[in-house]
Amino acid sequence: MKLPHHLTVRKGHLHIAGQDCVTLAEKYGTPLYVTSEDRVVEQFESYRKALGSRYPKVQVLFAAKANGNLALMRALAGRGAGADVFSSGELQLALEAGMAPEKLLFNGSSKTPADLKLAVEKGVKVSLDSLDELHQLDAAAKAAGRTVKVSFRVNPALEVPTHPKIATGLATSKFGIPHGEIPAAYKEALACKNVQPVGIHCHIGSQILDVEPFARAAEVMVRIVQELTKMGVKLEFVDLGGGLGISYHHETDPSPTPEDYAAKVVPIFRAGMEACGITPELWVEPGRSLVADSTVLLTRVNSTKKAHKRFANVDAGFNLLIRPAMYDAYHEVIVANKADAPLTTEYTVTGPICETGDILAPDRKLPEIAAGDIIAVLDAGAYGYAMSSQYNSRPRCPELLLHGSQAALMRRGETITDLTAAMEKPAWQR
Ligand code: LLP
Repeated sequence: MKLPHHLTVRKGHLHIAGQDCVTLAEKYGTPLYVTSEDRVVEQFESYRKALGSRYPKVQVLFAAKANGNLALMRALAGRGAGADVFSSGELQLALEAGMAPEKLLFNGSSKTPADLKLAVEKGVKVSLDSLDELHQLDAAAKAAGRTVKVSFRVNPALEVPTHPKIATGLATSKFGIPHGEIPAAYKEALACKNVQPVGIHCHIGSQILDVEPFARAAEVMVRIVQELTKMGVKLEFVDLGGGLGISYHHETDPSPTPEDYAAKVVPIFRAGMEACGITPELWVEPGRSLVADSTVLLTRVNSTKKAHKRFANVDAGFNLLIRPAMYDAYHEVIVANKADAPLTTEYTVTGPICETGDILAPDRKLPEIAAGDIIAVLDAGAYGYAMSSQYNSRPRCPELLLHGSQAALMRRGETITDLTAAMEKPAWQR
């Protein structure tokens, strides 16, 4: 199987960033998320270089929804990253990680009054999703005696080749303002006293493996920027969103790089901005392509079974990685302690959850498996732990971070006490 350079096989064991997955599983227990910080930083730098070598003013925002661990966000903050945050929680994590408020964009299609108040208080930029929200934010800013810098989220009405649940810029999607109505929205924003429209934003979807749709989105955005500039809107940033996919099927998926993305999109953007005579910052907000392949989920085989087919029953299920159950997503799996053994036998790798859909990897050719083997689920760094739950009252597993030859927990495993920590005993039961 094709592996990125931070994953290697040595003496029959899978290694991540030079560390033996089998040893890590023994030392820290399973299930275990293991992340290479150096890989995340490498991906971040490749975005910055690819965009920065083609356009003078670039800001990479990490889409914090993909992986909300503070340690990772701190590593990115140290490199100058901002963040796309989609909740008050993500906003506060990004600030705690050391990201500068002016590099944060508070996105979201359904923000509460408390979200808007927090955005005003913290001085972050807000991407508005409706005119209703514009007026609510204007009032919140007025009440605080402040001015807030805003963008509108454009719905560009673009079909994109991805899972329908994660195509976000379709004409029928819940997100953003239809592109034809954008000039009127800015007109209304210009008339508000406590918001200042300085940006424009779009995001067309996630796990997009072709760079063409990003070029189409850039064209839509360029046309809108031209119109807004004529109207007198002084744009400080244009945010083209995230969405670049990764090669989950290592052998067959294309693997577009930030370089491919930048080579396609930046010339369109740059020419458009030159035609307007402006040089706003170019923002992008990748999530998956920064963090997905940095992480493996290590899970131990509890038992094997031959029924109508062979099952390998492991200790991680959709409580820890919901993508296969939710989107029929494919993740490569490797038996970490038999990583160079011949792939002789077909197994379905199933989790411990009480649902038929709790399958991590159906019908995979693997080496012969026995209880105690360690299976590594690859590309688990985006929307993995971030979408985990305590379903079936299973405490979540720890997350381990690697850096050079070091390893440290970036999140301890939960305990039974954590399951009950937020539960209250109603007075009549005391
Ligand atoms: N910006 C906005 C406004 C977004 O909604 C998203 C993702 C991103 C940026 C980052 O997109 P990325 O670069 O990660 O594709 N849970 C799904 C993915 C949901 C994506 C939602 N929005 C999955 O596991 O595939």
